[in-house]
Amino acid sequence: MNNSKIKKVLISEEEIKAKIKETGKQISGEYSGKPLLLVSILNGAFIFMSDFCRAVDIPCEIAFMRAQSYYDGTSSSGEVNITMDIERDISKYHVVIVEDIIDTGRTLSGIIKLLRKRNPLSLKVITLLDKPSRRVVDLKADISLFTIPDKFVVGYGLDCGEYYRNLPYIAEYEE
Ligand code: IMP
Ligand code: MG
Repeated sequence: MNNSKIKKVLISEEEIKAKIKETGKQISGEYSGKPLLLVSILNGAFIFMSDFCRAVDIPCEIAFMRAQSYYDGTSSSGEVNITMDIERDISKYHVVIVEDIIDTGRTLSGIIKLLRKRNPLSLKVITLLDKPSRRVVDLKADISLFTIPDKFVVGYGLDCGEYYRNLPYIAEYEE
């Protein structure tokens, strides 16, 4: 790991915390009284999920999937591979996908297609970060906490070659 590649903090811990609190409130209001399932995509979204679900103050269930589209470096393979699936019958739930970042949109559109086939009561997408300028498929999150420019970022769950996930903030990475 080479910390000199961390150029600058793009989004601070405090900014992330404040936005998560606000979004948690919004979701709690929207899904109150409904069977809610938060589905997070590993590995990138694990920290966002753990903070986000604690900002939700209504009963909800939590599940994880794993999909790969980026491998070692900073470029997309273009292939979405579901390597771990949810075991639950999602037709009984309002599903909210909790994602770390939407870049090209390939990963999430693959996951959405798959989940729609299983007839959830409803399906929404919350993403911590959105890089709309990089999109190659037609996909829009229902809620994006932060829109960022076309920069490779690390921290708060996001990695470069599996490093930097443990940074408590989002930083710009020198490619
Ligand atoms: P997409 O399929 O191109 O939208 O990218 C999806 C996945 O690529 C995300 O869930 C991340 O795991 C990874 N990714 C995309 N952009 C970045 C970045 O700037 N930093 C770290 N990981 C990224
Ligand atoms: Mg991800």
